[in-house]
Amino acid sequence: MNLIAPSLLAANFANLQGEMEWFNRSEADWLHLDVMDGVFVPNISFGFPVLEHVARLTDKPLDVHLMIVQPEKFISQVRDLGAAVMNVHQEACVHLHRTIQQIHEAGMKAAVTLNPSTSITTLEDIICDVDVVMLMTVNPGFGAQKFIEHSLDKVRRLRQMIQATGSKALIEVDGGVNRKTAPLLAQAGVDVFVTGSAVYGAENPVEEVKLLKQLTA
Ligand code: DX5
Ligand code: ZN
Repeated sequence: MNLIAPSLLAANFANLQGEMEWFNRSEADWLHLDVMDGVFVPNISFGFPVLEHVARLTDKPLDVHLMIVQPEKFISQVRDLGAAVMNVHQEACVHLHRTIQQIHEAGMKAAVTLNPSTSITTLEDIICDVDVVMLMTVNPGFGAQKFIEHSLDKVRRLRQMIQATGSKALIEVDGGVNRKTAPLLAQAGVDVFVTGSAVYGAENPVEEVKLLKQLTA
């Protein structure tokens, strides 16, 4: 599978309506929304008051990436946005199994994200319970950072783990995804490609999404 998920973090926040207009016209599959708290990551982005407005501007699935401590506190707020995927960090969840259960009970797909330094083996006992595993391919907190090359090997090992266990989880990557890295990631076994600066910074974002879709097919 090759789903493209533009990350709103790289948008022009003074023109969200215009940014959502091209997004809706494009071949983008999911909208990726990065929530930061200045504690789990060294940056703050936007919160629910902004997301409530953005959510009304599209019918495409929302993938809400919570870079915050105790994300389980916000399950009902993410559900109320109409989100399809609630994305929590393994490092931020003490009772990850319970949090995944609660996300499912709220009617959403559960995605678990790993920082670059967190091993995929931390998911061994939960891999059959999650819908998506997202690997950070940069350290979370900022857009437009350099892709961490080691991630390709990590994706390949995760693909093996998924196959070996019969898990149905999709593999998503976030950070430094562009024309150069996307084909390599596709080859390694990625299903969902989050992309911020590469599409929002492109001269023609609609065409850039189309190109990334082709390069990952
Ligand atoms: C980083 C965010 C990413 C970010 C990716 O913490 O989770 O979603 O927007 O941006 P690019 O594609 O520019 O690396
Ligand atoms: Zn993200």
